[in-house]
Amino acid sequence: MKILYFTATGNSLYVAKRMGGEYYSIPKLIKEGKYDFEDEKIGIVFPIYYSGVPQIVEKFLNKVKLKSNYIFGIGTYGMYAGAATRHLLEIGERNGITFSYINEIVMIDNYLPGFDMNKELEKEPKKKIEDNLREIAKDIGEAKKYIKKHSFIADGLRVLNEKYFYNQHFEKNFTVKSSCNGCKTCEKVCPVDNIEVQNQPVFKNNCQQCLACVHNCPQRAISVKKEKSEARFVNQNITLKEIIVANN
Ligand SMILES: Cc1cc2nc3c(=O)[nH]c(=O)nc-3n(C[C@H](O)[C@H](O)[C@H](O)COP(=O)(O)O)c2cc1C
Repeated sequence: MKILYFTATGNSLYVAKRMGGEYYSIPKLIKEGKYDFEDEKIGIVFPIYYSGVPQIVEKFLNKVKLKSNYIFGIGTYGMYAGAATRHLLEIGERNGITFSYINEIVMIDNYLPGFDMNKELEKEPKKKIEDNLREIAKDIGEAKKYIKKHSFIADGLRVLNEKYFYNQHFEKNFTVKSSCNGCKTCEKVCPVDNIEVQNQPVFKNNCQQCLACVHNCPQRAISVKKEKSEARFVNQNITLKEIIVANN
């Protein structure tokens, strides 16, 4: 089994690892120009952005050639999955990818302009992440056929979200504190090489809004506009090194 994943703060990488099999980072595959995959089972694991599939994942799926009798998708999210499963199905249909299984799993919400990370961590036990992960892993193990359904209304909202949130220069929302020591972690965790550290990070204009730079900064020196806490989040089962390897 091959799993193709995208992650900024480790949730989706953790899910990919928990499914078993080999796992490959989508940003890295894009950088290396690798788009052909064949296996008995192939999975796509990604964080849900603005109720849908992140643009970087969609861009990858527009090019990829998958040969498998069982293709599955799993979206990780924090509060509201919106129409992400429908969006993935639609991207698949446009690109000749037939999904047998699409599901979503609630985890910690890393969207700092919306949530205080300390409060998010307090909610973790109620989300029953491990139980849900076991269920999904069992489904994949048994090659279960299932597509999580969302309403047309949720899809309409997703399209509006996409127009609103992606139509802006997000890089203007970052500020860097004097505690930055120029360690370049932000540069290395950025999935699209959008950050260049001279003395301090300089943000270019291809930001995917993933917040990997903000959450993974060892100095907590990067802030994003309207952030709800100084606390940051990275999945406890994933190391900074793994995120660097995935996105560098
Ligand atoms: C730009 C952005 C948009 C997001 N939009 C949503 C959303 O619409 N609904 C939701 O529940 N979580 C949303 N989230 C939270 C992430 O989907 C969630 O924390 C995910 O598990 C992060 O995965 P990762 O750790 O692999 O990056 C968003 C996060 C970011 C950075």
